Amino acid sequence: MFSRYKKSGGGGKPPANTGQAEAPANVMHIPATTTQPRVERKTNKAAAKPAPAEKDAKRKQRLGEIKAELHRELLDNLNLSALEGASEKDLRAEIVAIASESLEGMGVVLNRDERTQLNQELYDEVTGLGPLEPLLKDPEVNDILVNGPQQIFVERSGRLEISDITFKDEKHLLRIIDKIVSAVGRRVDESNPYVDARLADGSRFNAMVPPIAVDGSLVSIRKFKEDKLSIDELVRFGAFSEEMAAYLQAAVATRLNVIVSGGTGSGKTTTLNALSGFIDDSERILTIEDTAELQLQQTHVGRMESRPANVEGKGAVTQRDCLRNALRMRPDRIIVGETRGDEVIDMLQAMNTGHDGSMTTLHANSARDGVSRLENMIAMAGIEMPIKAVRAQIASAVNLIVQVSRLQDGSRRMVSITEVTGMEGEVISMQEIFRFHRVGMTPDNKILGHFTASGIRSHFSDRFRIWGYDLPMSIFEPVEAE
Ligand SMILES: Nc1ncnc2c1ncn2[C@@H]1O[C@H](COP(=O)(O)OP(=O)(O)OP(=O)(O)O)[C@@H](O)[C@H]1O
Ligand SMILES: [Mg+2]
Repeated sequence: MFSRYKKSGGGGKPPANTGQAEAPANVMHIPATTTQPRVERKTNKAAAKPAPAEKDAKRKQRLGEIKAELHRELLDNLNLSALEGASEKDLRAEIVAIASESLEGMGVVLNRDERTQLNQELYDEVTGLGPLEPLLKDPEVNDILVNGPQQIFVERSGRLEISDITFKDEKHLLRIIDKIVSAVGRRVDESNPYVDARLADGSRFNAMVPPIAVDGSLVSIRKFKEDKLSIDELVRFGAFSEEMAAYLQAAVATRLNVIVSGGTGSGKTTTLNALSGFIDDSERILTIEDTAELQLQQTHVGRMESRPANVEGKGAVTQRDCLRNALRMRPDRIIVGETRGDEVIDMLQAMNTGHDGSMTTLHANSARDGVSRLENMIAMAGIEMPIKAVRAQIASAVNLIVQVSRLQDGSRRMVSITEVTGMEGEVISMQEIFRFHRVGMTPDNKILGHFTASGIRSHFSDRFRIWGYDLPMSIFEPVEAE
């Protein structure tokens, strides 16, 4: 058997299940308009009682109305400018005081859990992002997708599901969007209807408002994960095999240029981040991203984040600007979060001129498709070169294309590892070394399959050996289906 050359202990812990507790299903005590008679009437309770789901929905609706009303009162009564300096404790105390006074005024009695929840929601509303706050805090949620005020989808364990959280109305949603974007000095309105930003906790945020968003504002949040998935965790979760990990370690450590290709949300950034763990700690790495998501573990890392133009259309610093500047900053390796525009030229040049071991991601559905994307991006950047020359550039710059995919069952897998071996006539030659072989579905719709080598000897075997990564031949042998 072989063993990977582990750099560190690795193997972080899986995320703890600390999902927010649901509100208790107790019924709140809303005073009746008429006094109830002391003597109970004989009624058929079972028949008179609304169905639990209906009761729950009614209770929720009423609670929502109370919250909205309280929120209005809070904003009226709180001195918002004084709020900035207030400590959390003072602010919470203030909110509790105003809320209980208002509740009393409204003649509403809530139980203790409901009060705690209400106070927390009001606090989130005033200081944070309102209804989004519990979702942002829930470690099981990866993505939050808002389609107008009444529909919030979340992604949990690879599956998209609708959440029972809503905004009061479009105005409420817009207020929260505005709060987010104004905190980063941006604006979103009819004339600037979409915006990209990074939340204070590092999460990636995109919003588009009406009239471009037809049925109410659209918001997408990719939550920032402090504990990025490591290679060991990804192997454990079945994203790729131990053999593939050993191969990838050799590829990254021996400075092959790697492209991680995949669809949206397929795990490209996660894979790139994990692969970066194989880079030696003595190297100087520069990272360039539109939204800083990568979290490299090495000591010597310089991070750059591009910047869009301001409202007057000035001050933009593109990924290409960062990349050009990075080349003057003596990097050993350059990592571009995602190549999507004219920075492709500089990226390929960097890969071709002494910055071996550079990495990036690309939006494409297969390795071959990834190469076409690169060709298209070069053409779009206005470079007029014969296609053969473009392909020759790509073939000598890119060594490895790692394809990741989010499969129907929500699982994310590395479906292929392909080497770029050169040119044959006008065509870039490639060979697939590993792939995910899908064999079927389980009754509960989970995808069945296994990772296997193709049986082809790696084009880089000699390189690996010379660099001291003597991979056993056994890892390149195809796995027989059971
Ligand atoms: N193998 C995996 N197993 C479980 N979760 C994963 C896996 N890979 C990625 N994820 C999670 O899926 C989400 C999307 O991953 P990631 O940001 O890497 O995708 P992406 O392809 O870069 O997306 P985008 O196209 O939006 O940039 C993240 O929350 C990440 O933690
Ligand atoms: Mg990404």
